[in-house]
Amino acid sequence: MPVSRRGFLHLATPPSSSARFLAARGLEAHLAEAQRNGGARTLVPPGVDEIRISSNENPLGPGKTVLDAILGKFPEAGRYPFNSTPNETALTAAIAARYKVKPENIVLGAGSQELLKSGVRAFTNPERGLVTASPSFENCPSIARKLGHPVTEVAVDAALRLDLEPMITASKEAGLVFFNNPNNPTATVHGAKAVADFVSRVRKLSPDTVILIDEAYHDYVTDPSYQSAIPLALETPNVFVTRTFSKAYGMAGMRIGYAIGRVETIKPLAALKMPYNVSVFGIAAAMAALGDPKHIEAERARNTEVRAFTLKGLNDLGCKSSESQGNFIFTDVKRPAKDFREACAKQGVTVGRDFPPLEKTHVRISIGTQEEMQKATAVFRSVLKMDTSPPLQRKSGRQHEEASWR
Ligand SMILES: Cc1ncc(COP(=O)(O)O)c(C=O)c1O
Repeated sequence: MPVSRRGFLHLATPPSSSARFLAARGLEAHLAEAQRNGGARTLVPPGVDEIRISSNENPLGPGKTVLDAILGKFPEAGRYPFNSTPNETALTAAIAARYKVKPENIVLGAGSQELLKSGVRAFTNPERGLVTASPSFENCPSIARKLGHPVTEVAVDAALRLDLEPMITASKEAGLVFFNNPNNPTATVHGAKAVADFVSRVRKLSPDTVILIDEAYHDYVTDPSYQSAIPLALETPNVFVTRTFSKAYGMAGMRIGYAIGRVETIKPLAALKMPYNVSVFGIAAAMAALGDPKHIEAERARNTEVRAFTLKGLNDLGCKSSESQGNFIFTDVKRPAKDFREACAKQGVTVGRDFPPLEKTHVRISIGTQEEMQKATAVFRSVLKMDTSPPLQRKSGRQHEEASWR
């Protein structure tokens, strides 16, 4: 049955209640996912709209240009990606042109996670393991452990930044170093000079070690000392950068990411790629997104403003956060993340999963829209029992808040 544009948009509209969400997705899928997310979603009471600030998604999704490109591809849903226009080759060429490199310097992935996984498979083995920070994005260590390859986790420093000296020491004879900049979940970055020094010192100490610099949150960084490591990767053997369309581009459901580096460095990633790993829709969406840089600038500005609002709100509640350079905040709620998460979920706000070893004190909160973060901050206040307004005023205020977002 043909899907009309209006019909599709209706389906694509975020569900307005958890009941509709459940009906669309099925309870079993919902429960399974909620379990993976630490169970928070199962605690959102029926009929309460969920403010989902748990997965570092762009709350607004893709821009109009991208949405139109996706909708325009429905007639080609029956085609393999190589038979559609644009195809995978065109997207690879468009990304390559953006960085003034050859298409061979780019490997596309079904999200950047495919490339992280391929990186671990290609560059670690039982003798040469993975070095990563702790906490950091868990994808690489989780794959390495599944493969039975050793993992060395280096604790972040007191400011919750990657601790570079011990990471350098740990990289001696490692297969792969995972360097997440900005780091998920701590949201901190290292500036361009620190990254270049790190790469140079690891290469001196351990020339065969490969360094993966994951820049999933690149578009949200506002720290002027930061610069992408892509030029560094292109001039340095054994270094590659991963990027994704899932975050600022708002295309997490489209599953498109890429690796960029010297041809000889990223060849093993290309060899592990599944044929036709990116879809007709993902390709069209990414092409449209690359042609709309203003949308990313606007999204960065929006995120920066809401991030500042949320950081201040948390600070006013006595929660100290690390310096956020992403679309999420890592904050000290001085209680187990699980308790905070579950209490927030009961009021319809779902925040991030546990991030050991800081799960007894810290929570990751993704940046939603301004309206969502105003409501979420009110929920945080009530959960942290920091509401110091007079009882009568507090009661009516709370009723008003709840009524306005059910
Ligand atoms: C640091 C980091 N890298 C990679 C990813 C994976 O993104 P995707 O596979 O959607 O491109 C994420 C997702 O949250 C992330 O936080």
